[in-house]
Amino acid sequence: MLDVPNHRSAKFITFEGGEGVGKSTQVKRLLANLGQCSVTAVRTREPGGTPKAEAIRSYILQGRSESWGAGAEAVLFAAARLDHVTQLIAPNLAKGTWVISDRFCDSTRAYQGLTGGVDVKLIDALEVLALDGHVPDLTIVLDMDPATAFQRVELRAIEDGLALTGDRFEKEELDWHRRLRDGFLDIARNNPQRCVVLSAEQSEEALAAAIWNVVIARFPQLQVGAGA
Ligand SMILES: Nc1ncnc2c1ncn2[C@@H]1O[C@H](COP(=O)(O)OP(=O)(O)OP(=O)(O)O)[C@@H](O)[C@H]1O
Ligand SMILES: [Mg+2]
Repeated sequence: MLDVPNHRSAKFITFEGGEGVGKSTQVKRLLANLGQCSVTAVRTREPGGTPKAEAIRSYILQGRSESWGAGAEAVLFAAARLDHVTQLIAPNLAKGTWVISDRFCDSTRAYQGLTGGVDVKLIDALEVLALDGHVPDLTIVLDMDPATAFQRVELRAIEDGLALTGDRFEKEELDWHRRLRDGFLDIARNNPQRCVVLSAEQSEEALAAAIWNVVIARFPQLQVGAGA
């Protein structure tokens, strides 16, 4: 279980959950709501977030490290995360800018650990190393049935005019995605102070409002009345 720090004025918020649940959509909406409260915030994502970490992201997601095994991939993700934390997350928080990340360490635990078979002790050790004390102040876990989330991903591909090819993880079977969903719920249960689970099976607007309620309840310094 990760201890939640609360000494900084700027906050570090992460979004987690399976594919197509609406993480990227809601990260943008939270940024907009924070902006209405005159809070300076940056949006980032994992894997990636910095040029070096993005290079590792594309290497892994193209499947080029698949034959290395899940343990070595977890080490690669940790290297990317360490760069992301030291080059982007920590400096922004230090200067008072909030950081909102589209996925973070819980995705590694869910994908490589709980469903990928990497020893949880390795995941724990890499997490301590890569986070360097920068535990999220709040993690929003978006939860929904993967079958419904896939329909959203299909629609998104049509809207974007793209063929539904998917990266390595998007191609996994529905059962695997159900285990992934349970993995995220387990993480939330084990970190009740940090994580809040919200049903993603509601309209974009209703979910944005639910997230905003959680954020202003958790950080009362935000001006009440603005946002959503
Ligand atoms: N609450 C919602 N109801 C219906 N559709 C939604 C909702 N939220 C997002 N969508 C749509 O579902 C699709 C997936 O959303 P989004 O890209 O935000 O998910 P994601 O969790 O970031 O996915 P990925 O894991 O692939 O990055 C998009 O087309 C988006 O417009
Ligand atoms: Mg996304």
